[in-house]
Amino acid sequence: MNDDLSNRRLATILVHAGRNTARSEGAVNPPIHRASTIIIPDVDELYNAPRKTYAIEGMAVQDALREALCAVEGACDAVLTPSGLAACTLALLAVARSGGEVLVTDSVYGPTRRFCDTALTRLGVRTRYFDPRVGGAIASLMTDATCGVFLESPGSLTFEIQDVPAISAVARASGVPVILDNTWSAGVCLKPFQHGVDISVQALTKYQAGHADVLMGAVLTVGSEWGRRVADTHRQLGLCVSPDDAYLVLRGLRSMAVRFERQSASALAIANWLVGRSEVAHVLHPALPSHPDHALWRRDFTGASGVFACALHPVSHQRLKSMLEGLRLFAMGFSWGGYESLVVPVDGNIKRTAAPWQAPQPLLRFSIGLEHVDDLIEDLEQGFQRLATPA
Ligand SMILES: Cc1ncc(COP(=O)(O)O)c(C=O)c1O
Repeated sequence: MNDDLSNRRLATILVHAGRNTARSEGAVNPPIHRASTIIIPDVDELYNAPRKTYAIEGMAVQDALREALCAVEGACDAVLTPSGLAACTLALLAVARSGGEVLVTDSVYGPTRRFCDTALTRLGVRTRYFDPRVGGAIASLMTDATCGVFLESPGSLTFEIQDVPAISAVARASGVPVILDNTWSAGVCLKPFQHGVDISVQALTKYQAGHADVLMGAVLTVGSEWGRRVADTHRQLGLCVSPDDAYLVLRGLRSMAVRFERQSASALAIANWLVGRSEVAHVLHPALPSHPDHALWRRDFTGASGVFACALHPVSHQRLKSMLEGLRLFAMGFSWGGYESLVVPVDGNIKRTAAPWQAPQPLLRFSIGLEHVDDLIEDLEQGFQRLATPA
């Protein structure tokens, strides 16, 4: 970073962080170095170089992206991973120890849960899932074996907000690191390190990349022992990302503030519109006062992203199919945070063992894109007409 951006507002940070004209020969954006080998002319520096010796460490464009990501969340270091899922699993591996136990929110992203139940189990690390609304009562689950706590707030299917400060305070008192999957907020509206988190995880695939064309993740830390652990584990696993992909994510990041603001506003407008629909049982959007965790969201978040869910009153599969498949603007697909609107029924993906999920079905998850909000509402309105029409 050329300048101290710490007192700047997010939109400014997103435009200026990680820019360094020395690195780019004066160009606004960093160069893309396609590299594996780095030439080292001095024999004495081959094994003792004060600079990079192999491109797995990342070149100029990866460095620029890491710096920019650190500036967004107030982190000291960031490592890049080939997907958001790899960022979640790296963070878990960095804290795991054989014979230990990780405490994981029951609302966690499904593939993160699969990793805990398979690879971690094989390595002799147990997972205990807990009610996402546990708060400070997590103290009763902590034992000498606890080696990490994994949070995701809100859960990306069920939207419970976690009491991150209360959970972090308990974990910190026992020297246990707290990992937060902070993807929903994109670091825009929740600053994890201000709430006691040790390791923040971002699926950059979502809002940072923003265009549904690249997969990437990041693990961010604040210079603690856990920062070193994450960096070492990243190196030991040989994780890296391509310079072209890093360029795409950095390019997306530059416009994230405006995209996020628009997508957030449209999502809230649509959520409010859905509240008034007779087909809708309830809307799960933390910024709505009717959300059970609204008070926590108000306390800890400065905004909301464009991702939320709504449960419909029970309806036949055929009618739901007709509603969803006939949408002209909303497409069905996994992932979220891109410029295009998406909707997907998620009931089948909700796996719970600690706090059973009881809500009317079907549950639809929306990711609101950059289309005009009135067009999106019209699309949904026509969808509801199909929902009401017998096949
Ligand atoms: C909350 C959350 N974390 C992590 C991921 C994984 O990101 P990626 O798709 O880049 O692997 C996802 C993907 O949907 C997610 O929803």
